[in-house]
Amino acid sequence: MKKILITGGAGYIGSHTAVELIKAGLEPIVLDDLSNSNPQVIDRLKEITGKEITFYQGDCNDRSTLDTIAKTHQLAGVIHFAAFKAVGESTEQPLKYYRNNVGSLITLLDFMSENKIPDLVFSSSCTVYGQPEVLPVTEATPRQEAESPYGNTKKICEDILIDIVKSQAGLRVISLRYFNPVGAHPSSKIGELPIGKPNNLVPFITQTAAGIREKLTIFGNDYDTPDGTCVRDFIHVMDLADAHVKAFTYLNDKSKDFYDVFNVGTGNGNTVLEVIQAFEKVNGVKLNYEIGPRRPGDVVKIWADTKKINAVLGWTPSKTLEDSMRDSWNWEKSLK
Ligand code: UD1
Repeated sequence: MKKILITGGAGYIGSHTAVELIKAGLEPIVLDDLSNSNPQVIDRLKEITGKEITFYQGDCNDRSTLDTIAKTHQLAGVIHFAAFKAVGESTEQPLKYYRNNVGSLITLLDFMSENKIPDLVFSSSCTVYGQPEVLPVTEATPRQEAESPYGNTKKICEDILIDIVKSQAGLRVISLRYFNPVGAHPSSKIGELPIGKPNNLVPFITQTAAGIREKLTIFGNDYDTPDGTCVRDFIHVMDLADAHVKAFTYLNDKSKDFYDVFNVGTGNGNTVLEVIQAFEKVNGVKLNYEIGPRRPGDVVKIWADTKKINAVLGWTPSKTLEDSMRDSWNWEKSLK
C-alpha cells in the first residue's frame, strides 16, 4: 500500500483527504502540529475508516520530525496542507506567515529531494487570481498582486514549485487552487473547527444558527451581482478531498518531471444570500442576519472554470450547495 505524508492532516481539508485516500487504497501518514486542530480528529478518522491512523505530532518546518518519519516509512508522495490561513492575521504578522508557509515548503522540498520522494500535491488558493476581469477564471487567467501576505505566500509557493521542478530531476508537482471549501464528512465525525470567532462565511452561519453568535452580518449588498452580495464558488470538502486523490494518482503515473495547476471548484457562482437561503431551506432553520458594510479586501465575484480538472484528472464534483449546507449544519450540531 502506497504511503502518503499528509502535512496538516488533522486540519479541515487534510482530515477529509485522509478519509478519501484510505478509500482509494492508499495509506496516509498524518503530520500535524495541532496548532489549529484537535487530536481527537485522529480517533475520528479511525472511526470513519476502521483503520489505524499513523500520526506524528510535529511542525513540518522541523526537519528532525520529517527525518524520523522517513526512517520508518517509505513515502510515495506528500500532500502539503500545513499552513496558516487567516487573512487578517497575516496582514498584522506577515513574517509569521512567510516563515511558516514558505519556510515549510522549502524544508519539505529539501526533505523530498534527499529522500527521493517524487510526488507533491500543494494546497494553493483562488486568492491568487485577485478580482479577475473575466469570469469564470481558467488556470491561464493572469494572477494578480496579492491582497494580503497570506495570499502572497500561496503565489510565492507556486513560483517556488515551478522553479524547483525545472531544476530537479524526478519531481512531479500539482498545485490545486481551491475555491471556497464548505461542508463536512456526512458522518458528522469530522468537519471545520474554527478556533475563536470564524472569519469564513459558513462557520459563521452555522454558529449563528446554533446560538453561539447572535447574528450574521452580510458584508455589503450593493455590489454589482444578481442580489448585491458577493459571489463565490462553494465546493464541498469531500469533493475537494477526492480531487487530491485524483491529483496524486495522476502524478504517480507520470514518468518524468511534471508541474501543473488545477482549479478546484464547482464551476458555479453563488451569492452570499443564496448560501443563506440554501442553508435555511435545507435545514428548516431561520437565520438571524443583517446587512452591514463591505469588508475591506473582499473580491466582488469569482468562480472557477473547471474544464481542465474535469478533462485531465477526470474529476467532477458530486455534491450540491444544499448537500454542503446540510453537512455543515449536522457537523455544527454534533459539536454540542
Ligand atoms: C477568504 C480569503 C481567501 C482564503 C479563504 C480561506 C479574503 C479576502 N479571502 O476567502 O484568501 O483563501 O478565505 O477559506 O479574506 N461573508 C459575510 N459575512 C461573514 C463572513 C463572510 O458576508 O461573516 C462574506 C464575505 O464578504 C465574502 C463571502 O462571505 O463575500 C465569503 O467569505 P469567506 O468565507 O471569508 O471567504 P473568502 O473571502 O472568499
